[in-house]
Amino acid sequence: MLIDKEFKIAEIDKRIYGSFIEHLGRAVYGGIYEPGHSTADENGFRQDVIELVKELQVPIVRYPGGNMVSAYNWEDGVGPRENRPKRLELAWRVTETNEMGTNEFMDWAKAANTDVMMAINLGTRGIDAARNLIEYCNHPGGTYWSDLRREHGYENPHNIKTWCLGNEMDGPWQVGHKTANEYGRIAAETAKALRLVDPSIELVSCGSSNSNMPTFPEWEATTLDHTYEHVDYISLHQYYGNRNNDTANYLAKSLDMDNFIKTVISTCDYIKAKKRSKKTINLSFDEWNVWFHSNEQDKQIEPWTVAPPQLEDVYTFEDALLVGSMLNTMLKHSDRVKVACMAQLVNVIAPIMTENGGGAWKQTIFYPYYYTSVYGRGTALNPIVQSPKYDSKDFTDVPYLDTSVVYNEKKDELVIFAVNRHLENDLHVNIDVRSFEGFEVVEHVVLENEDAKATNTLENEQVKPHSNGQSYKEVGKVVGILPKFSWNMIRLQKQKINK
Ligand code: AHR
Repeated sequence: MLIDKEFKIAEIDKRIYGSFIEHLGRAVYGGIYEPGHSTADENGFRQDVIELVKELQVPIVRYPGGNMVSAYNWEDGVGPRENRPKRLELAWRVTETNEMGTNEFMDWAKAANTDVMMAINLGTRGIDAARNLIEYCNHPGGTYWSDLRREHGYENPHNIKTWCLGNEMDGPWQVGHKTANEYGRIAAETAKALRLVDPSIELVSCGSSNSNMPTFPEWEATTLDHTYEHVDYISLHQYYGNRNNDTANYLAKSLDMDNFIKTVISTCDYIKAKKRSKKTINLSFDEWNVWFHSNEQDKQIEPWTVAPPQLEDVYTFEDALLVGSMLNTMLKHSDRVKVACMAQLVNVIAPIMTENGGGAWKQTIFYPYYYTSVYGRGTALNPIVQSPKYDSKDFTDVPYLDTSVVYNEKKDELVIFAVNRHLENDLHVNIDVRSFEGFEVVEHVVLENEDAKATNTLENEQVKPHSNGQSYKEVGKVVGILPKFSWNMIRLQKQKINK
């Protein structure tokens, strides 16, 4: 493997380490918000959860959905709590109490030191509700909606910068599902209206719900034909699972993600060429993760209850490795992927779990997310990698070594993230780093476990990293061992010379 300072992919947009909180299951109620909890502050925000979110250094959180947003009336969630209506929430067939809404979420985001990516309802609603919401959130005052915000106790505008034009509108399950032409028209007109209220915002047009949708990638081409000059990003969503218990094939699924990203880039650039446009549309991978463990148990949930335990996947060790590779994939495309949201953040397919009235803990997937978010800042580099390969049920030529590299110039730090997909053999790596003179290995973190299905609970953290990885600096190179079936972070820093 060869790493060179000059082989730059791009400056990494920190928003690729974003996440997502939907009004779904116990993400909000029992997750970030639980008045009466022993750690709750005066707003009802669980401080144990906030501490874990801060540890992850999550730069942006998408809100309030997800499927939920497509039938959401944002007005239900503002103003005095005692006047807020309880509603049937149609996407997940639960009761929404509206105790949390836009303003409270902005307060939570501030406390968690993160920004908000706001999604608007283009399912049951449209331009009017959207322009009122942005006037409420971003206009300083002196008009009906902005003054209402001030009456509600928020003198200063929230100044939300990133907005999603609906959610998964290609999906037949979506309330208010649309054809590509229907969506393209409403999205373009809504984008125009939002920008008239606040020209400084950035907008995300809905891409396909996943790469297996029958309308992919025609959906992207048709909708972008309408929205191209009005938006900045197109969204991608993708979840994977190990349904057939075929670990070698499962670990290769990041190759599918890579292919998905490449196809969306090509489609954006095709519309750019067709329109003779000077503008480039970037990608917002605003839902990604593993999601399959909870599918059966969710069928047992009683409809119309408040905050039931939906989508509570308990993640395994092998899930953490795939998550590590998905993050590598995002970094390798950081020239075009500018926003990405691990879906979701707390309790719902999440790195952080809580018990109502009890503790909070880290799932297995917390760890690759944590290290990549904290140490994956700076410039993504393009390493030249030679790796032995394997074939699996759905993939050919899968490299055993999956890696991404980040150079943080400010910190004089070089960080190598690597997954060894081999289930039985260690990988001996020999990394040419001759352009990083004076750099030494300061840390080699390893996430490994004999049991692919090992999980973490509040009482028993079976999957956690250690720093006993074996990597050494020799003249011009790093030699090291990536243990079989493991995720690794090798961190090098320039040594200061004492004169
Ligand atoms: O994240 C869970 C759900 O997955 C979201 O609500 C939806 O957008 C996607 O299908």
